[in-house]
Amino acid sequence: MSSRPPPGHTHFDFSGLSGRDKYKLIIGTVIPRPIALVTTIDENGVVNAAPFSFFNALSGDPAIVAIGVENKADMSFKDTGHNIRMTEQFTVNIVDQAMIDAMNTCAVPFPPDVDEVDVAGLTQVPGVHVSCPRILEAPAALECKRYITLEIGKSREIILGEVMGVFIRNDCVNPLNKHVDQKRMDAVGRLGGHDYSTIRDQFTLPTMSVAEWESRNSNLDDSKEPGKPAGEQKQQDVPLSKQQTGGKRPKA
Ligand SMILES: Cc1cc2nc3c(=O)[nH]c(=O)nc-3n(C[C@H](O)[C@H](O)[C@H](O)COP(=O)(O)O)c2cc1C
Repeated sequence: MSSRPPPGHTHFDFSGLSGRDKYKLIIGTVIPRPIALVTTIDENGVVNAAPFSFFNALSGDPAIVAIGVENKADMSFKDTGHNIRMTEQFTVNIVDQAMIDAMNTCAVPFPPDVDEVDVAGLTQVPGVHVSCPRILEAPAALECKRYITLEIGKSREIILGEVMGVFIRNDCVNPLNKHVDQKRMDAVGRLGGHDYSTIRDQFTLPTMSVAEWESRNSNLDDSKEPGKPAGEQKQQDVPLSKQQTGGKRPKA
């Protein structure tokens, strides 16, 4: 029988960890991460597709997305990194559950002359704002022009792209009010290891105004059971408010 871990948190000082361990802790804790199936073309027009889960939207206006592309083990660029460097364009195809097997095929390290979109049995459609194609089966595709590339460490770059336009499958969007039906989109997320998640289990939580928050809190205070502390701390971590700070938060 496995024993229960003691209460509290385990601290990992990243300065003493290997790259592999830092990677494992980051991908295990920053979850779920959306997956960009990135399509690009090389200088000769050969199409490439590869999935990236170091991916997210960073800004709405201007519309900026970012992907983190690592070099290959021999430090050469992955095809995606090379192609974006050469053409300054890429398309982020959103991966849904129906595409998950094809997405995984696109992650196979084929040589540069292999068109993963064809190998994975996906359908290419010409781009509008960019010369690389988008994937027809994807519920959405964001056509991007390279905005800036950040060199991170010795073997990684973070590529920001400005979204020039987005294709969204008709059953997933209301073109009048721009509402996107996320359930129909059925996007998948990447977790740690080789695990994935869906977004089928959703809930709604509107952000509150200060007045709404105050009114909700006074209602919660009224309904508190007598004799039962609200947030009983079972962990060993000492909250900042209980440390010797004289009741004040230390300045950063
Ligand atoms: C779900 C998933 C997410 C991935 N995310 C990344 C990532 O964020 N960065 C990266 O460099 N590689 C990532 N990979 C690995 C690349 O997809 C893989 O190296 C691919 O072969 C690169 O293809 P390319 O050389 O055609 O660009 C991921 C693989 C999978 C399956």
